[in-house]
Amino acid sequence: MTKPAHHILVCGSFRMNGTPQGFCNKAGSLGLMQYLESELSDRGLANVAISSTSCLNVCDRGPALVVYPEGWWFGKIDGEEAIDAIIDSLESGTPAADYLLA
Ligand code: FES
Repeated sequence: MTKPAHHILVCGSFRMNGTPQGFCNKAGSLGLMQYLESELSDRGLANVAISSTSCLNVCDRGPALVVYPEGWWFGKIDGEEAIDAIIDSLESGTPAADYLLA
């Protein structure tokens, strides 16, 4: 396995017992992972890993995801337009300001 160039951690609001509860899950974050995966593939970005996580503790600004190694935290990821902006960020090297959490 080749180490990915980027790792996107999408909040799935999972609790310790594996149950997905909480804001991001209820707002459809896991459903957007499928779009994220297919859009990365369409753009030929094969070196990006995607994982779901437990609560990232920014629920009031969710749905949230984090991109490493850049350390970018994004919020209000509420649809395909937001996902497109995140992928644009990977390609340009500049984080999408509309979704970037300070
Ligand atoms: S449930 Fe996603 S940040 Fe808390």
